[in-house]
Amino acid sequence: MPSVSSRVIRFHEIGEPFDVLREERIEIPDPPGDSVRVRVLATGLNPADWSLCRGFMPGTLPRGIGCDVAGVVDAVGPDVVGVAGVDRKGGSGTVRAGDVVFGTADFVGQPSAGAADVAILNRWFRIPDGLDPVQAATLPMAVQTAAWTLELMDLHPGATLLVHGAGAMVGYAAVQIALRRGARVIATAGPTFTADLEGFGARVTPYGEGMPARVRALTGGRDIDLVLDTPRPSPGTLPDLIALAGGDPRRVVTISNHEEARNLGARVNIDELRPGLTPLSVLLPQYASLAAQGAFRLPIAKTYPLEQWRDAVRLSLDGNPHGKVMLLPDARGRHEN
Ligand SMILES: NC(=O)c1ccc[n+]([C@@H]2O[C@H](COP(=O)([O-])OP(=O)(O)OC[C@H]3O[C@@H](n4cnc5c(N)ncnc54)[C@H](OP(=O)(O)O)[C@@H]3O)[C@@H](O)[C@H]2O)c1
Repeated sequence: MPSVSSRVIRFHEIGEPFDVLREERIEIPDPPGDSVRVRVLATGLNPADWSLCRGFMPGTLPRGIGCDVAGVVDAVGPDVVGVAGVDRKGGSGTVRAGDVVFGTADFVGQPSAGAADVAILNRWFRIPDGLDPVQAATLPMAVQTAAWTLELMDLHPGATLLVHGAGAMVGYAAVQIALRRGARVIATAGPTFTADLEGFGARVTPYGEGMPARVRALTGGRDIDLVLDTPRPSPGTLPDLIALAGGDPRRVVTISNHEEARNLGARVNIDELRPGLTPLSVLLPQYASLAAQGAFRLPIAKTYPLEQWRDAVRLSLDGNPHGKVMLLPDARGRHEN
């Protein structure tokens, strides 16, 4: 297959996203190894994109934004093989041009990612019947982070889990996953998703001033077994969360307040990632299947055509998007907001 021309949103130097991001037209080469190249139907923007622009995980530049992707396969790598219905990534069957898949763009190792007309996916899975590709593209980052972090926390059925920041998408995913695992879940969230989270089975109270007392009221004064801290960096909350966990910092895991947690003796999920966690080849098809059945979902804040990427970046950067921010480069993925 020849390379294909694509608009891409990417950065050539480290800095604030609006200072360094630019739209360019480049050639996307054949997919290497066991990756696939897709015409992008949808990509999700995540806080991680802004961290990368600012220098997180430094490496070769330029790089793209948009890790979570759904698209139509237009070329497969030379090592993509399918055996008896199981492909090299453990997805559901072989993959061919024209198949609709979702997965992750290698935004560290490639010069562009999902915010593009065409992207190379290093992990890809068939989208099950009944699941909209835009919904599929909401899943990878939030599901992976929530599921792996709960696994690291050794969450047992019957344990009481506080998900602080469940209106953030990793927290929203974590509430659903923890409830499926039999935990009793208390969540802090703003009003946008309170009804959703209660509908899943969580008890919900607002974050902000007075949060610890409101959580204590929900537990009848008892300590929380485990706390998952999920909103974007919000200095000063961890001491309250540790107090709610009986004063034991090892019962508190954060995904975002890294340095504060380390200083207080609390846990940071990325410090503990290890082989043996449920592989994405199991996790992502499982949650895509649940989503197709209506048993798992992530809300979409707003969708944008690729040419409106600046508006999408602005909504995500403002810190309160209230749902996933999605770019839809291909008109086939679009629907009313
Ligand atoms: N370590 C990892 O492995 C990993 C992986 C992915 C993401 N992350 C990090 O995790 C954080 C969350 O990511 P995300 O994609 O889930 O974020 P997000 O969906 O963009 O979170 C935004 C939402 O957080 C809620 N929020 C705002 N201020 C809050 C506060 N002070 N307390 C509690 N909730 C608040 C708001 O919802 P409501 O007002 O509606 O409640 C807002 O819409 C980011 O810092 C990201 O970089 C880490």
